[in-house]
Amino acid sequence: MCGIVGYVGDRQAAEVLLSGLARLEYRGYDSAGVAILHDHGHDHNHDHDVDADDDAGNGNSNSNGNGALTLRKSVGKLAALREALDAEPLSGSVGIGHTRWATHGRPTVANAHPHRDCSGDLALVHNGIIENYASLREELRREGHSFLSDTDTEVIAHLIETYWNEQDTKQPTGSEYVQTSQPGLRLAAAVAAAMRRLKGAYAIAVMHRDEPGTIVAARKDSPLIVGLGQDENFVASDIPAVLEYTREVVILHDDELAILSADGVTVLNTCLEEQEPELLHVAWSLEAAEKGGYEDFMLKEIHEQPTALRETLRGRLVDGVVQLSELELDDAEIAGLNQVFIIACGTSYHAGRIAEIVMEVWARIPTEVQASSEFRYADPIIDEHTLVVAITQSGETADTLAGVREARARGAKVMAITNVVGSRVTREADGVIYTHAGPEIGVAATKTFTSQIAALNILALKLAQSKGTLEQRVIEDIYDELSSLPELVANQLLHQDEIQACASGDCCINACTSLFLGRGIGVPVAMEGALKLKEISYIHAEAYPAGEMKHGPIALISPEVPVIGIATNAATYEKVISNIEEVRARDAQVMLVGTEGNEELRHYAEHVFYVPEVSELLSPIVATVPLQLLAYYIAKARGCNVDQPRNLAKSVTVE
Ligand code: G6P
Repeated sequence: MCGIVGYVGDRQAAEVLLSGLARLEYRGYDSAGVAILHDHGHDHNHDHDVDADDDAGNGNSNSNGNGALTLRKSVGKLAALREALDAEPLSGSVGIGHTRWATHGRPTVANAHPHRDCSGDLALVHNGIIENYASLREELRREGHSFLSDTDTEVIAHLIETYWNEQDTKQPTGSEYVQTSQPGLRLAAAVAAAMRRLKGAYAIAVMHRDEPGTIVAARKDSPLIVGLGQDENFVASDIPAVLEYTREVVILHDDELAILSADGVTVLNTCLEEQEPELLHVAWSLEAAEKGGYEDFMLKEIHEQPTALRETLRGRLVDGVVQLSELELDDAEIAGLNQVFIIACGTSYHAGRIAEIVMEVWARIPTEVQASSEFRYADPIIDEHTLVVAITQSGETADTLAGVREARARGAKVMAITNVVGSRVTREADGVIYTHAGPEIGVAATKTFTSQIAALNILALKLAQSKGTLEQRVIEDIYDELSSLPELVANQLLHQDEIQACASGDCCINACTSLFLGRGIGVPVAMEGALKLKEISYIHAEAYPAGEMKHGPIALISPEVPVIGIATNAATYEKVISNIEEVRARDAQVMLVGTEGNEELRHYAEHVFYVPEVSELLSPIVATVPLQLLAYYIAKARGCNVDQPRNLAKSVTVE
């Protein structure tokens, strides 16, 4: 979830870009950069990137009289970029800036945006993931383009360059090659042609030396807005970046481009036909805008789950083959594995508990899960025939890192599953699967959890395919169903009234303790529901396998104790219902998570949170969403700080 800002107007662009990027800091980033087009006759006319690390021949061949297009980039916080700009200022009133949250390639200066084409005349910033970047890069390389970074983004710059150049040599055919003097249209035509080749998600802002007073912006599946000013205009990945200057914005839609100049903004489709812009007057405060209009980051991140899941699952099955090159194991090596050992902490541990069941059913491989803090001292039985999977959203959890070292020392191959590119686990593990969920700011993990489950499902499918334990048709069906989850979750999130109503009831708000029950794959779902509730509302919550309840927890049951049961369609559904009847007989207040259409559940519970019907093994993602919301709304009703619960940290770097 990178941050994009672009400016064209009268002010010094560098200042506007820095202040806009600072407003996007909440999105998380690990490097930053700007490109500024120098005004004519200005003194600071650098012919190279000031930042030596980046000056790798990407250079400006600025011989045609327009001002130089110069970049500044730095790793780390914006303060470093500001220092670079203070040391050697860039003047100019057109520019684009970016904060990068690494997805392809480590956070280095070379990988930081903006990126340029071969000529150095074009600069581009990008938010999103280009799925087919590897094949495009290969094609462009063959055509003579050279690349200076590991990013998927750089491919877009070179692709646009190709179409820009074609307009010099080819006769116009339809709208693709535009022979017109309207500023920005030639660049827009090249961008539109490139967009037709790109697969994946992107929001981009592009500038070109030969289109001096303009910026072209475009989007597909990644947010991008245009800010409308007086004799100045802005583009940004999110509204907070422009609020200091304007409250009038245009929301760009998928497959739309905008040409920005100081005088105006034109919105086009990819055929370069003018579109009616969607205007919005922003009445929110800056703080509310950072949270996208949500009250808290946690709620925003719960709502980002459909997007996060899409990113995790994107491009993982091509021509029937599960794509997981990160695993770096061929079929013979996978056949040689005799166990999977999962290590993780907290919420990630619960993702591991879900994966344990899925791995065993799909890939028929014995799978064990252990909390990293236990594993590291447990003298575990693992060797070179063990695949160790270390799950950690932050990539920095000390116990999990220690577990990774321990596992490798014993000869096991270690795969990390993390959300943070370049985090420590990525340097310590043999391979990394990224969840691509975007930065998570709320301390309680939500979207990273469901994305971890999705990534683990892909890993299990990969093992199953290599070992031949699932028929091809079944693999494809599972992947199809997985791919439908983002939309199902998005629908679920539209219907929260029952959860909100329930959460504000006395029984929830005043509870001292609560019990979460499930069976089978519902057990780790119950564990995660209980963890969420205790983390943010400070109500004690215990999760138990429903069938075990009569051996202890049933002693706790009273009318004051809410019981939350996972009763989605499953082989053990009837058994769960029997257990629920046992607690109801003791006057517990019951809430159930159940499958849409199952009206009988209303006989067993005060509240039913319906979730869409999916196969049992894929149910944890949809079943978790209401539990996240329940915890959230109870915590809010109790006046708790849900984003920063007491005593907890987002990343636990000590043992
Ligand atoms: C902390 C966080 C939890 C997280 C756990 C493990 O306790 O508050 O949300 O689940 O660490 O973190 P990891 O980054 O390894 O997934």
